[in-house]
Parts: sequence; structure tokens; C-alpha cells
Amino acid sequence: MNISFNLNGKNYSFNVPTNMTLLQILRETIGLTGTKKGCDKGDCGACTVLFNGVTANSCLILAPQVDSAEITTIEGIGSVDKPHPIQKAFVEEGAVQCGFCTPGMVVSSYSLLRKNPEPTEEEIREALSGNLCRCTGYIKIFNAVKKASKEEKKIGR
Ligand code: FES
Ligand code: FES
Repeated sequence: MNISFNLNGKNYSFNVPTNMTLLQILRETIGLTGTKKGCDKGDCGACTVLFNGVTANSCLILAPQVDSAEITTIEGIGSVDKPHPIQKAFVEEGAVQCGFCTPGMVVSSYSLLRKNPEPTEEEIREALSGNLCRCTGYIKIFNAVKKASKEEKKIGR
């Protein structure tokens, strides 16, 4: 089927099988590999993207749903040259170890801070509850989100 969608501010059109997932479209068709494939069944959050403005597991979204959608991936949030304050805070707080969960964690944190610029620890835990990390023990990740919240307040985002 033909699908058209907006990804990180750019319009795309592709002919893809209807059983292709958004995660496959991102990684295999477009070649954007920041979004990670972990469990491939909606459990780990490694594949988290913003889908029409809300966080979603891209491994659970099929091609027909992608048609006309607006999608933001980690590549649309920041880059190596221009990291987002959340990405900077993750590095500074030691919240990245193997890094496999990090893009999903950053997308979920970004979504939280857009809605709620000064979240409590409980709200941060709730917002990241769908993102699993096997390395950090989570505390450094929560600290990174708190730090990003303060930084964004300082720079008036
Ligand atoms: S890869 Fe999608 S939730 Fe794990
Ligand atoms: S840093 Fe390794 S899974 Fe989170």
C-alpha cells in the first residue's frame, strides 16, 4: 500500500506491505536507526517514538496506521552536533551505559517535559514506566530528567 506521513518535519511517501511496522519502516526503509528494536512486542519501550504527539511503541504500529501520521523520532529531538538538553543531561548524569534504551527514554522524557516542565519524581517514574533499562538502575535516568527540567527552565523553553 502507498502511505504518506510526516517524519521529523519532512514529508515521505512509500509503497510498503500492510504488515510492515513503523519500526521496520524507520529502520529498514528509511535507514533511521536511532529507534531501537528490543522485544518487538510492546514490552520494552526501546522503540518509543512520538506518534501524532503522543508516545507510542513503533513495533506495535502497522503501515496503515502510519498513513497521514505525524512522527517524531530521536533524530528529530537532537543530534550529536546539536544535542537536546535532555540528551546532554543523560550524558552528564551518567544515565547512559550500553545506550540501547536511551533513545526511547529520551523520547518519553521529551514528551513528559513538553506537557509538564517541572515533574515530580513520581511523575517522572510514571512517564518512564514503559521504558526498560537493564544497565543503570534507573536512578541516574530520573536524575537526568530532573536536571533537564531545571536546564530547560533556565533557558526558558
Ligand atoms: S521493541 Fe517495541 S516495545 Fe520493545
Ligand atoms: S543503558 Fe543499557 S539498557 Fe539502559
